[in-house]
Amino acid sequence: MTRHRSEAISAPLSAPQRHRVLELVQRRFGIRDSDYGASRIDAAVKLVLPTTEYPDVTQLLASVTDESTPRWLFELVQFLTVGETYFFRDPAQIAALRDAILPEAIARRGIERRLRVWSAGCSTGEEVYTLAILLLQRNLGADWDISLVGTDVNRESLRVAREGRYPAWSFRSTPDTVRDRYFEPGTGGWRLTEDVRHMARFSWMNLGADDLMAPVTDADLVVCRNVTIYFDDVATQRLYRTLISALAPGGWLMLGPSDPLPTDTRNLERVEVAETILWRRLTVATPERPRSVPTITPRRTMPRLVRPTPSGNELDAGLLALEAGSPGSALEWLRRATFRQPDNALAQFALARAYAALGDQQRALAAFAHTRRLLDAFGADDLVPGSDSLAVGTLRQTVAGFVDQLAA
Ligand SMILES: C[S@@+](CC[C@H](N)C(=O)[O-])C[C@H]1O[C@@H](n2cnc3c(N)ncnc32)[C@H](O)[C@@H]1O
Repeated sequence: MTRHRSEAISAPLSAPQRHRVLELVQRRFGIRDSDYGASRIDAAVKLVLPTTEYPDVTQLLASVTDESTPRWLFELVQFLTVGETYFFRDPAQIAALRDAILPEAIARRGIERRLRVWSAGCSTGEEVYTLAILLLQRNLGADWDISLVGTDVNRESLRVAREGRYPAWSFRSTPDTVRDRYFEPGTGGWRLTEDVRHMARFSWMNLGADDLMAPVTDADLVVCRNVTIYFDDVATQRLYRTLISALAPGGWLMLGPSDPLPTDTRNLERVEVAETILWRRLTVATPERPRSVPTITPRRTMPRLVRPTPSGNELDAGLLALEAGSPGSALEWLRRATFRQPDNALAQFALARAYAALGDQQRALAAFAHTRRLLDAFGADDLVPGSDSLAVGTLRQTVAGFVDQLAA
């Protein structure tokens, strides 16, 4: 068996197998077929195959179904992403954040004294900690409630981010004074001081999934830089919709300078700050009617769009209605979804959000508590059942954020 396996993995992939793997990566993670991916695919499969129960690439590929993404594909994608990042990346964008965006957000939140920031595709954490340092430099009082969340699909990058230890190369754009103030020298580089490390938390998330759910709501700033340059158009615009939906009215979206632009700008204003382009969520949003669920109004009888099987359609319709700002319609769909699938944590979570959006705090808290109970059986790194993008730990943190918000 061992000999068989080693023979199987020493042979290069056939052209159709290579094509199939790249196609799967694109479909499940949004990452489009690139020279970079193609050049690494054989080596990546070679590393991942022995960690699975499959003896060869043919059987590995046969394990993929339409319904689920097998674990090996999550492992494999980590070898195909580009994790290039460093502190204080892009001086114009950093100047815009330091001199305009963060001061504006701090002034706007002056009464609540809270800020929410999401770095989507944070790699090894330099971007998140840059934001933490920029905030520390503003000397906000200890009574500020600051939430800085970094998400990435690469678990090894997230491990490095949590550890907060960096080589000299990460500081190529960082003034020595800043490095000396916020880092302690150690073996092989510098480690962030504990106060900076504690400001940030990191979660696994697949930004290319079609059921993507933001890990924060009411965010003041969402940063997604140098991620969608590797995505196909559909995944890029789908991701942008989720990023925008996470923003508070007046909240800011910062993309990388070479990233594609959002095409649906109905709820967005384009703002130029210090030679950098940003997007800002309008304070009065234009209601958006999703085309895929034209009959969002609840009916007594089952609408034709919904298959009479306990599929995810009611949940999808509920989520779309929530996103479109119709919590009343969402509630109807989500009640049906949770009735049909009482153990579905995603449906329970969405139901809680619909109650929260309708101002029914008691029912919202009960549904959030039920979501937590449904997640109890899983580890933080497991995927939420029925989702290809959301880790259990991320959903737990998101629920905690909502509960805190309701309590406030
Ligand atoms: C070039 S780095 C950008 C890091 C940082 N935002 C910056 O600009 O310095 C791109 C990051 O996106 C992540 N990424 C790529 N595809 C992803 C996906 N489908 N879901 C989540 N993260 C993804 C990669 O793992 C990588 O860490």
